[in-house]
Amino acid sequence: MAAKHRAVLIPGDGIGPEVTRAVVRILEAAAAPIEWTEHLAGIAALEATGEVLPQATLDAVERRGLALKGPCTTPVGKGFSSVNVQLRKRLNLYAAVRPVRSLEGVPTRYENVDLVIIRENTEGLYSGAETRITDDVVISMKVATESACKRIAHWAFRYATQRHRRKVTVFHKANIMKMSDGIFMQAAERVHEREYPNIEYQDAIIDAGCMKLVQDPTQFDVLLLENLYGDVVSDLTAGLVGGLGVVPGANFGDEYAVFEAVHGSAPDIAGKGVANPLALLMSSVMMLNHIAQERNDERATASSERIKTAYNAALSAGEKTRDLGGELGTDQFADAVIARL
Ligand code: NAI
Repeated sequence: MAAKHRAVLIPGDGIGPEVTRAVVRILEAAAAPIEWTEHLAGIAALEATGEVLPQATLDAVERRGLALKGPCTTPVGKGFSSVNVQLRKRLNLYAAVRPVRSLEGVPTRYENVDLVIIRENTEGLYSGAETRITDDVVISMKVATESACKRIAHWAFRYATQRHRRKVTVFHKANIMKMSDGIFMQAAERVHEREYPNIEYQDAIIDAGCMKLVQDPTQFDVLLLENLYGDVVSDLTAGLVGGLGVVPGANFGDEYAVFEAVHGSAPDIAGKGVANPLALLMSSVMMLNHIAQERNDERATASSERIKTAYNAALSAGEKTRDLGGELGTDQFADAVIARL
């Protein structure tokens, strides 16, 4: 029998351990060809090792090339800088991809949402370059480099081409941030003009773009955004399809890929056994599809298809967690999916 693919499992904080446990159980039941090595990050790592992002965790992801990660808590307004941001920067995971789709059995205002958010993951206001100028004044620097703007633009258009998507829209605020958002937008324009003229290209000022998104999301297809806008618009669009419990994600670089849901550690429901594991489960399906494509493994395709069919059937039968109006807990939903594999 062919060897399994070795991947790192990072349970994370808050609801992270609950949802990762449920997802690993489903993957095992679906005969996904993955062998896990568990490593820590976040508060869990701080308590065990004194560091929020231990070198051993980074080394493990570099060795295996793949990780499935639960959310990590970041203190608000004080304390250490985000482990999630550090991980993306240290491993140069410059492209975040978040497919936002309507689901069978999850009725929302729109029935046919099918968007993909592509977020630049390494720059912008996430540079963490903040400083106090006087007692009264602090500044945060928004970093944009032409090379990173071009790199993410190429990534987005290549993705759109490979996935047969029709249009890429850049959301920006280049009317105000003429330089930083300016080069982000211009990089996309140039890459489109020179290399991908067959994909439709559009830009929109982000405030009006958000209004259009909630009015009629079907007018958009692939959305390309710098770091902070990508973060905010991911959650906004999650709200169009049932919430944070149903939107998966992946962070890609040229060498490594880390799969994680859009949601955070949800401290308000952590430890209660009620979190929806679906967003992380869908992220694991993205991981299986990535393995299938990169390593040409039919076992990964088969398990991915089985899991998708099973969770859609469970949702359609009304077997849902509370965030989706159902009554199931995390483990019960996992059992419902496993029963349909
Ligand atoms: P959050 O995404 O954790 O929660 C927002 C709301 O959505 C909460 O009411 C929560 O209960 C609900 N929710 C989220 N995921 C859910 C799930 N799977 N099932 C059911 N309900 C769910 O965002 P919040 O509260 O702003 O952040 C909490 C912590 O998570 C912060 O420390 C933040 O920095 C961190 N965070 C980490 C991320 C990551 O690890 N990639 C991403 C976003 C936030």
